[in-house]
Amino acid sequence: MNKVNDDDQIIKKIMNKLNCNCVKRIGKGGYGSVYHIKNKNGNYALKLIKINRLKEKNDPQRYQTTIEKIRYELESSINLKSKYIIKTVQTFEYKKDSDDQDLKDFPEHIVCFGIIMEKAAYNDLNFLIHLYKKKILFNSRMNNHPLFSTMSDFTIKFFINQIILGLDFLNRSFLIHADIKPENILLNYGFTTKITDLSTLTAIKKNSDLILPSGTFCFQGPEYYEEQKKIDSKDSEKIDIFALGIIIYYMKYFIYPMNQNNKAKLNKNQVIGILNKEIENISNDSNISPELKELMIKMIEPDISKRATIEDILGNKWLNEEKKFIDKIHRLNDGEDVKLFIEFQKYDKEWYEKKKKEKEKEKKEGVKKSKKYKL
Ligand SMILES: Nc1ncnc2c1ncn2[C@@H]1O[C@H](COP(=O)(O)OP(=O)(O)O)[C@@H](O)[C@H]1O
Ligand SMILES: [Mg+2]
Repeated sequence: MNKVNDDDQIIKKIMNKLNCNCVKRIGKGGYGSVYHIKNKNGNYALKLIKINRLKEKNDPQRYQTTIEKIRYELESSINLKSKYIIKTVQTFEYKKDSDDQDLKDFPEHIVCFGIIMEKAAYNDLNFLIHLYKKKILFNSRMNNHPLFSTMSDFTIKFFINQIILGLDFLNRSFLIHADIKPENILLNYGFTTKITDLSTLTAIKKNSDLILPSGTFCFQGPEYYEEQKKIDSKDSEKIDIFALGIIIYYMKYFIYPMNQNNKAKLNKNQVIGILNKEIENISNDSNISPELKELMIKMIEPDISKRATIEDILGNKWLNEEKKFIDKIHRLNDGEDVKLFIEFQKYDKEWYEKKKKEKEKEKKEGVKKSKKYKL
């Protein structure tokens, strides 16, 4: 069956059933797509997981396990209520009707699973980092500003402080995400981060080992290279902490320590070697503040038993310094990207300090106060 027609037909039928309009496709993954949809109440995102895309469909046992996993994703996402996790409004299983003539070639009884979520206003964190990387985020006045060639400490703290609250919420619900990466961190108004993609969500069972769910290579620590892919359940949350540490690394250097090129070749000792080398490089990097160094190194610690916990990160004094700025930015709730980005820059501490110095200089030189940058 032609994939494009098949997608079109299914989305049309679902839109009819839900009484919604499909605006456009906003994301595409291995098993399905995410659409921006609309009804009289507002905008939503719809994730469709299509059964005919499942690799496992020719192996009945694995197929059944996958179906159970998807049902678990649907069930658990409905129950998660946190500002820092994307809110699921409704889930459904779309089954073939006997009169579905145009789907008659469809091999399975269930056509697809659907998750209707709140729609994040902006793209995901990966896109934002990409804007920084390409230096296209800021207007021409800012293009050559050294502050914006990389993500500043404030910007990094702003995001990490929020993501850790999402992870803490999951942890309190005895869950780990297991696929934390910039693509799965959505950005809503005020740059509130919303963790999404709960397909790898895994329950932590006390006193029994955690079988590591499959996630994304670049964000996996040495524990993933053990033959028996399992860890002590008390270390479960550190899977997500490692991934978050890699996100910080990526925000700072715009590359990953383990990249797709060496994916197939690596063994556990090599991964530990790569990480230790990176830790040494970070320690010697004079362009990073000592506090960010310490934080990053604690999070990408190769030995899972020594790695930082969620509690360690929540209690980090340096991260806590910026909490009041985060509330301020969230309250702006402007909705207009450009304005918001400008506000965002205003609250950047380094920017703030620079402007403060400029102002003092102006004052000394007797230049009239600029009203533009209120401090
Ligand atoms: N609720 C949402 N609001 C806005 N964009 C979304 C939403 N959910 C997903 N997306 C976009 O779609 C992409 C894929 O969604 P995701 O749930 O991560 O599916 P996959 O399992 O295919 O990775 C995300 O990286 C994001 O860019
Ligand atoms: Mg994803």
